[in-house]
Amino acid sequence: MSKEIKLSQDILIVSETDSKGIIRYANDDFCKIAGYSREELIGQPHNMVRHSDMPKAAFKDLWATVQAGKIWKGIVKNKTKNGGYYWVNATAYPSKTPEGELRYISVRVKPTQTEINNAIELYKTL
Ligand SMILES: Cc1cc2nc3c(=O)[nH]c(=O)nc-3n(C[C@H](O)[C@H](O)[C@H](O)COP(=O)(O)O)c2cc1C
Repeated sequence: MSKEIKLSQDILIVSETDSKGIIRYANDDFCKIAGYSREELIGQPHNMVRHSDMPKAAFKDLWATVQAGKIWKGIVKNKTKNGGYYWVNATAYPSKTPEGELRYISVRVKPTQTEINNAIELYKTL
């Protein structure tokens, strides 16, 4: 049985990818909740935390939005290293390094139970 990790209010999961979605930065909360060391996350494609319940359409929308220079918001179910899962209220947006290299940043907080329930219903239809 896969186990749900419920985030606490003070958790802030941050990651940064390059233009291709390769993880370039992971904060301590990301490592802690996903169950990976920073070394295991950096350099890997961000779909390493993708949960199979997530519809492809959600990430298609995420990518189209951030590639258009806009801010994407959504409720995302991610998997942990040991087969558990956690829901997040995610915001993703484009940025640039001081050297001018394109980056995508995502910041995630605890979603409400209503947001999770709505996402479960929505994703059944996608
Ligand atoms: C900044 C940023 C953060 C992302 N965060 C996640 C995430 O937390 N979980 C996830 O499954 N995909 C995340 N993605 C999307 C993945 O890059 C990928 O598109 C998704 O996991 C679906 O995998 P696929 O493209 O191989 O089908 C993120 C992408 C970006 C640009």
